[in-house]
Amino acid sequence: MDRRETRSSKSLTFPHLFFSLLIFSCRIVKGDHVFIPILALNRDPEIWGDDHLEFKPERWLDGVTTKAASIPSVFAGTATFLAGPHSCIGYRFAVLEMKALLFHLIRGFKIDLDISPGEIEARSSVVTRPTVRSDGTNRLPIIVTAV
Ligand code: HEM
Repeated sequence: MDRRETRSSKSLTFPHLFFSLLIFSCRIVKGDHVFIPILALNRDPEIWGDDHLEFKPERWLDGVTTKAASIPSVFAGTATFLAGPHSCIGYRFAVLEMKALLFHLIRGFKIDLDISPGEIEARSSVVTRPTVRSDGTNRLPIIVTAV
């Protein structure tokens, strides 16, 4: 079969700058691998603003902003659980679980870093984990005190 017959063009949500070309659509062929940059979408300053790296739950107080609503999403205008027919079916359970865990941790314990914040970075290998820069180990040194 002529390879071109299997091609279809899909509009991009945002135009994309590729070197000096502005791309408005891209063609995907059956069998192509597509990488979805979840972390980059969730932290894009164009979408979230200058404070895009800050932990600010209050940014959702008035709902999802128009720009964030343009991300294909099932939860909070983020790409965390993706979207569409293969989006995460466990996302409500995952969010509930995290809320319950955080509620008990914050209420019952004081948690401090046992290392300077600059010594920690996030590294991805299947999942993203905290890594100590100086020795490259996946760990998060903390001091937990019951309150
Ligand atoms: C923070 C926790 C979680 C995150 C960030 C997460 C994220 C995701 C993402 C991004 C996908 C889409 C994968 C893809 O399209 O290739 C997915 C799919 C899926 N997730 Fe989750 N997930 C989480 C927790 C859970 C839990 C707790 C369950 C079950 C109890 C679950 C069950 C599933 C299943 C079954 C799929 C496949 C859906 C399909 O292909 O139709 N997930 N998840």
